[in-house]
Amino acid sequence: MNIKLALLKGDGIGPEIVDSACLVLDKVAEKYGHKIEYKSYLAGGCAIDATGVPLPEETLQGCLDSDSVLLGAVGGPKWDTLPGNLRPEKALLGVRKGLELYANLRPAKLYGALAERCPLRVTDGFDILIVRELTGGIYFGENGRREGKYGPEAYDTESYSITEIERIGRVSFDAAMKRGKKLTSIDKANILETSRLWRETMHRLSAEYPEVEYSDMLVDNAAMQLIRNPAQFDVIVTSNMFGDILSDEASQLTGSIGMLPSASLGEGTRGMYEPIHGSAPDIAGKGIANPIATILSVAMMLRYSFSLSKEADDIEAAVEKALDGGFLTADLGGTLNNAQVTAKIIEFIV
Ligand code: IPM
Ligand code: MG
Repeated sequence: MNIKLALLKGDGIGPEIVDSACLVLDKVAEKYGHKIEYKSYLAGGCAIDATGVPLPEETLQGCLDSDSVLLGAVGGPKWDTLPGNLRPEKALLGVRKGLELYANLRPAKLYGALAERCPLRVTDGFDILIVRELTGGIYFGENGRREGKYGPEAYDTESYSITEIERIGRVSFDAAMKRGKKLTSIDKANILETSRLWRETMHRLSAEYPEVEYSDMLVDNAAMQLIRNPAQFDVIVTSNMFGDILSDEASQLTGSIGMLPSASLGEGTRGMYEPIHGSAPDIAGKGIANPIATILSVAMMLRYSFSLSKEADDIEAAVEKALDGGFLTADLGGTLNNAQVTAKIIEFIV
């Protein structure tokens, strides 16, 4: 297979971890006879420095012309004081929206080798898939500043259409069908009108999936339940903002935020794949970042965009071997650097 891949390495540790993931991808491509053509584009802070905007036209076009996109991370203190529409994060939102990638899959599972890194005292392990709505909700609603009752104020608005809820709902039910057939929809229906519409719509959809054990949960309770007993969850579906927050929470249960990959998908096969963590400016350039979230994101890409499941399995198995062998970066309590862990993972792909 010939694959045209757009790389958005971004800022901070982004370039280091994307480079590692590409080395792993090269190894798999060599093993199975695929040809990968990489093209790098500027996005985030580095794009602001070079062009004045976080997401240059050329970058979005490059993504649209590619078969899939691999992103590292964007942002950093250097750009923190810029106005909202010029911040590096806008690049990420722009690509998600520009490619209509409304479904964000964030698997969080506890690897056997990392059980001790899980901050919970009691856990039977867990394997959760968070399905986060990615192109709607409060992230994309009208916002601004205005004069209010107590003086100057700011506002953000959340809206969700039935169509948006239905399409993310279907992704989550379909995912549940392929996994443990259990779906929890997380909302704040006791307060938010958008959540009430969300809940109504999910209930209607659930009638089409009688095999899936469906339930609703309020987001505050969900934040607590994730820590009380993460093993109760199989697939979680939730809005953009709640998914952002809960996926960070879930990541910590796996031992490190450096472990969680993600896939952002739309109607076609083109997706964007990225670790859920940020650009970690504090460790950027030191070569010590954990590359696993990005490497696992490449595995998701092979599986979801190109239906190359053997290739994806190989990467996931190699990561597990590296973890089992104790080849760990510092965030996991190890002493190896990014290059050493990457080399081990590559070695385990035979
Ligand atoms: C994520 C990140 C982004 C988000 C930021 C960087 C815009 O936190 O992918 O989870 O909020 O979606
Ligand atoms: Mg986040």
